Amino acid sequence: MARETWATRIGFILAAVGSAVGLGNIWRFPFQTGQEGGAAFLLVYLLFVVAIGFPAILVEFVIGRRTNLNAVGSLRELGGGAWRYVGWLFVVTGFVILSYYSVVAGWFARYLVVGVTDGFTVTTEAEAAELFGIVSTGLDSLVFHAIFMALVIGIVAMGVRRGIELAVKVMVPAIILFLIGLAAYGTTLDGAGAAYAYYLSPDFGVVVDNWTSLLPAAAGQAFFTLSLGMGVMITYASYLGEDRNLATDAGVIVFLDTAIAVLVGFVVFPFIFAAGTDPGQIAVGAIFFSLTQAFATLPFGTLLGIVFFGVVTIAALSSAISILEVLVSYLIDEHPIDRLPATLGAGGAIFLLGVPVTLDLVFLDLLDGLADGVLLVLGALILVVFVGWVIPDVGLSELGQGITSVDPWDDIWLWMVRLPIVIVLVVALALGALDYLEFLRVDFAAWLGS
Ligand code: PHE
Repeated sequence: MARETWATRIGFILAAVGSAVGLGNIWRFPFQTGQEGGAAFLLVYLLFVVAIGFPAILVEFVIGRRTNLNAVGSLRELGGGAWRYVGWLFVVTGFVILSYYSVVAGWFARYLVVGVTDGFTVTTEAEAAELFGIVSTGLDSLVFHAIFMALVIGIVAMGVRRGIELAVKVMVPAIILFLIGLAAYGTTLDGAGAAYAYYLSPDFGVVVDNWTSLLPAAAGQAFFTLSLGMGVMITYASYLGEDRNLATDAGVIVFLDTAIAVLVGFVVFPFIFAAGTDPGQIAVGAIFFSLTQAFATLPFGTLLGIVFFGVVTIAALSSAISILEVLVSYLIDEHPIDRLPATLGAGGAIFLLGVPVTLDLVFLDLLDGLADGVLLVLGALILVVFVGWVIPDVGLSELGQGITSVDPWDDIWLWMVRLPIVIVLVVALALGALDYLEFLRVDFAAWLGS
């Protein structure tokens, strides 16, 4: 059977944006920003997106479009030798990320159901924490993890055009519209002024004092939110024709993902300040506490809450399908397997890997820390070295396809990819790996001992 392609240009862009926009923007970005000091983190993150994220997305695009192959096969074909095995890293990363991603997405879906059936009524921190406990661990969490994975499997099983492309054409515009509405509503909240000050005026002291944690956190966040470092963009670009300007498409995708993350800050921080929560404390769960409390007290709160949790669930879905597609495209390109069994097999295995996360949140930190602090940065580093040093000519010629005029930016791109980006990524990887080892040695060891 012939390999599928995107039906339309906008379909590809929306699929890539749908992959990029997800829990990374809506759940991870606010709590990272809170933990790493507010506006200072935002600034470093934005710098990373422009200087590293944009060139790195092009790196994945040229690999995918040149070969029209999955993430494993494309590196084997272009690099040969040991590069044959690098793609395996992406397969592992995909398994790790989607297993916990689906559990967290299930929480949002569960809150959506809470809103629809009971409305949001908890007003105290203690009650909110209790509700989060019920949602996030045990049977509820397991059931919604299963439901979410079933949806992901269903869409991916339908294929590129009928499944992914059709789904994102509806989802992405809906996400953007609703977030703009919620942000506009945020301006009317009591805490809005304080929230904007916190979010927008950077304290450069924080950057200087905390750079060893801020740098890897910002790098990890930039890759996570742009779906980089694990072959998603290779896979999606592999369904592309040669007639398109990769740089323009990448620009649109990076811009939309970043604009949406920044917009989410304008939604979440006013709600958090309105609920009186300290933004430095909004860890993985506390964002749910403050939001449910806010939705319980605001006029039309339940409706706002339903919209919010609905949007997040949809956004998470369009990201999750891209992760599963990396694994499925690998399986069907490289093995005599059809799409349906490949999707069911990979999706089922991911469901099982996520089960521990539904039992104890320590597994969330274990998997997210590994994926974000180490695997994605490592994957991105390998890809930039590959394109920058092993196949620079292929990279440049592929980047030039679909462009009519000669572009001086191509050389700047190659130069960035070869040196500055490699250096920053090596530093970020070393710091991120140390951070993760520290987590294993201290927090995880304490958990094991308890
Ligand atoms: N970019 C997605 C988000 O922000 C997460 C993701 C990471 C998707 C890696 C694919 C690959 O939610």
